[in-house]
Amino acid sequence: MPLRIVRNDITKMKVDAIVNAANETLLGGGGVDGAIHRAAGPKLLQECRKLGGCETGRAKLTKGYDLPCRYVIHTVGPVWRGGRFGEAKLLASCYRESLLLAAEHRCETVAFPMISTGVYGYPAAQAMRVAVDAVTAFLLDHDMTVYIVVFSRDAFEISGRLFNDVKAYIDDVYVDRHTDMRREQQRSVRVFDAMMAEPATAAAAPASLDDMLSDIEDGFSETLLRMIDEKGFTDAECYKRANMDRRHFNKIKNNPSYKPTKSTALAFAVALRLSIDETKQLLMKAGYALTHSSKQDIVVEYCIKNGIYDIIEIDQVLFKFDLPLLGS
Ligand code: APR
Repeated sequence: MPLRIVRNDITKMKVDAIVNAANETLLGGGGVDGAIHRAAGPKLLQECRKLGGCETGRAKLTKGYDLPCRYVIHTVGPVWRGGRFGEAKLLASCYRESLLLAAEHRCETVAFPMISTGVYGYPAAQAMRVAVDAVTAFLLDHDMTVYIVVFSRDAFEISGRLFNDVKAYIDDVYVDRHTDMRREQQRSVRVFDAMMAEPATAAAAPASLDDMLSDIEDGFSETLLRMIDEKGFTDAECYKRANMDRRHFNKIKNNPSYKPTKSTALAFAVALRLSIDETKQLLMKAGYALTHSSKQDIVVEYCIKNGIYDIIEIDQVLFKFDLPLLGS
């Protein structure tokens, strides 16, 4: 998946390059900078000393030393001063410049911390928006998997209104244990009633197996391709909007009996801006249902009903609720 939001310690990420939220001296500091230097060992500081610092919004590259990554890309985020001093532009530049350096060094996987959101005070929800926009813009013409690593879920914010609306929606429709038990009891009563009832009169003769097999419907792959055409998207628009890489999409496209995960099927539904009914149809082709006993489904349903078709925004909500992300 091209862009993933994950919760982890960035020094543990096994990727080609991790990005460091450094300061202009590049000589180390606290926060993620301190953690990276500690994990990389003293040779990292020796190399950093030779770099002559780095301006805010720019990036420089070193080796990874004892870290499980090949490179560390050091970038300097802006200090938050209320938002009217070009902070967003500088922050976007950190992501873009780091990614350009990563591409120059043929990195296929890169992990970012949430630059500027610690000591430098950038509000996390706004910083995430800038990060996501900058990374997705870059990924439009680069094949790379980019991770945004969130250290602590508590520090991660989505807009309060969205969080509360989704929470209320989940509370409203989630089939809790209590309701499940009640339904279970009702079901046993129905099954018992049916058993006690008179046997049904003979039904119409069933179709032969051959007839049924010759009537086989389109699978997931064919349905997806048809929907892409009907909605007027190109294949590339579709997989990019689904936050999926080209190889994965081609696998699905070229295999008529491909069975995606439910998250992948949902990612396509969002990418194609399907209605709830169309989403159900597409899921059905992969053997799934949209159900109120899955919180992930409820969040996606809420988003579709409210016209939220930005997959990263949906993933941020899922992340906040500790649910599996789409396409993962
Ligand atoms: N892995 C991933 N993320 C981390 C880790 C870690 N091990 N440690 C901290 N973070 C997160 C923080 O929770 C925060 O969201 O990284 C984000 C950035 O926080 P800071 O490290 O404080 O970076 P920043 O706000 O950009 O400030 C940079 O801090 O120590 C200095 O030298 C650095 O002066 C520079 C300043």
